[in-house]
Amino acid sequence: METSIQAESSQFNLPLLVKSISANETLALGERLARLLAKGSVVALTGPLGAGKTCLAKGLAKGLGVTEEITSPTYTIVSEYIAVISGEKIPVYHIDAYRLRGNDDFSAIGGEEFVFGEGISIVEWSERISNFIPVEALMVDFELTGDNERRIHVYRNV
Ligand SMILES: Nc1ncnc2c1ncn2[C@@H]1O[C@H](COP(=O)(O)OP(=O)(O)OP(=O)(O)O)[C@@H](O)[C@H]1O
Ligand SMILES: [Mg+2]
Repeated sequence: METSIQAESSQFNLPLLVKSISANETLALGERLARLLAKGSVVALTGPLGAGKTCLAKGLAKGLGVTEEITSPTYTIVSEYIAVISGEKIPVYHIDAYRLRGNDDFSAIGGEEFVFGEGISIVEWSERISNFIPVEALMVDFELTGDNERRIHVYRNV
C-alpha cells in the first residue's frame, strides 16, 4: 500500500508512452503531468487535428490550479490564464500555432516574451514555431490510433 502511494506521488520516469482511450483519460494525464512543470516551463504538443492537444492542455491547466475554463477560440493565438503555485501567481500561456506560417509570424506577435519568460507556456502545433521551443521543453506527441484511442509519447530531448 505504502509503495503504491509513493509511486503515485513520485516524479514520472520519462520517456513515457501511454495509450489513452478517452478524452477524460487524456485530461487526467495532463493533470498529472502538471507536476513536472515550474516557472518558465514550456510544453510542446504535436499531433494531428483532433488528436487531443487542447484536451491535454485543459488537464495541465487544471493540474496547475488554473480555475478559468481553457477554451480554444479559432483565431486566438495566445490565451493567458493564471496559475497559483505555492501561493505565487504565474501566467500560463496557451499558444495555438496552427494558424501561424512559421517562426517569423510568431516573432511578429512578440512570441519570445511568452516562451522565454517566467510563465508556463503550453504550445499546440509546436513544430510550426520550432525556433521558440527550448531544448529542455516537455514534449508530448499524439498519434490517432482509433476513434477514441490515442498513443501519447511524453519525453524530453535533454
Ligand atoms: N483518448 C482521447 N483523448 C483525447 N481526446 C479524445 C480521445 N478520444 C476522443 N477524443 C475526442 O477528440 C477530440 C480532441 O479534441 P482536441 O480539441 O483536444 O484536439 P486538438 O489536438 O487540440 O485539435 P486541434 O489540432 O484542432 O487543435 C475531442 O472531441 C475529444 O472528445
Ligand atoms: Mg487544439
